Amino acid sequence: EDAEKGGYEHFMLKEIHETPRVIEDTLSEYLDDEITIDASFAFGVSEIVFVACGTSYHACLIGKYFIEKLADISAKVEYASEFIYHQPPTGRTLVISITQSGETADTLEAMRIAKKRGAKVLTITNVLGSTATRIADFVLYTRAGPEISVAATKSFIAQLVVLYLITLKLSHIPRSEKVELLKELRLLPEVVKRILDSKEEIERISKLLAKYENLIYIGREVGGPVALEGALKMKEVSYIHAEGYPAGELKHGPFALLGEKTPVVASLVRDHTYEIMLNNIKEVKARDSIVVVVADEEDKEVEKYADFVIRVPKTNPIFSAVTHSVALQLLAYYTARERGCEIDKPRNLAKSVTVE
Ligand code: G6P
Repeated sequence: EDAEKGGYEHFMLKEIHETPRVIEDTLSEYLDDEITIDASFAFGVSEIVFVACGTSYHACLIGKYFIEKLADISAKVEYASEFIYHQPPTGRTLVISITQSGETADTLEAMRIAKKRGAKVLTITNVLGSTATRIADFVLYTRAGPEISVAATKSFIAQLVVLYLITLKLSHIPRSEKVELLKELRLLPEVVKRILDSKEEIERISKLLAKYENLIYIGREVGGPVALEGALKMKEVSYIHAEGYPAGELKHGPFALLGEKTPVVASLVRDHTYEIMLNNIKEVKARDSIVVVVADEEDKEVEKYADFVIRVPKTNPIFSAVTHSVALQLLAYYTARERGCEIDKPRNLAKSVTVE
């Protein structure tokens, strides 16, 4: 097993470090000079319903933002386990299931039900020939390679890459904008490498966070699901109770938990959400919580309010879902390591949940 870890202490860390290659491989599958995805799954579609579980569910939440923002198609996201209790999709619904393993029982069941109700089903999966690929009408593959660590890392980023490609394929934004975004997408492997190379600050912050039993993660717009995924990663591997919220929800309950015992991790993106997020960060600080902010490297303002800043390279805001998530994966990993947790196989969790 040690040989398979390629010199890394855990599979989770090895797999996070594979992310640049995974992005390259996934891009080369579906991107030449142009995006090569066959978009026939979208013909006649009036709405998209995403279904998934766990980390893949968070990829769906992020996908909804991309699709609505850039492709102008209305999208919903359902937990696969809840989908069965909701209104039937119509024949003009495209159901997109996202599943790393292609074997998650709830996701497979949601796909079967969607088909029975007349929807078209596209699956985004990492495993060739998995059950999901046999149920789906259309299949797109992430090229993450085998993922051993129970906590999903590189496969999540690969899912986001496929979602970027689908969105750009379906979007009607001006060609020059599309070209610009594709250019940045091709640069993502390099961008992620830079985050991996500058992990000292993350390690240092982890040593502090490891002492706490409660953490709150916040973000806005695409930062909201990034916060949810950051919190999920933290609780999975470090056993710290971590909750993610869209920042606007803090006042509606979580504020009661703020204080010296509850650090807050914020995802701060340089877009139209910036000012209001900064305000939320100030409000958190005023209530004595330690604040850790993931922010871009050119942001000077944030230092005035944050106790710690995790710097990531500046990108178009939509790619912050990747940069911030990689930083938060590392934060979860190092915090768990500091706490001496069984990182690759957390208690009570399975890599693939094949029962409903
Ligand atoms: C399990 C794993 C998670 C994963 C979820 C969905 O709970 O521990 O890491 O996100 O299943 O898995 P899938 O293979 O459908 O993406």
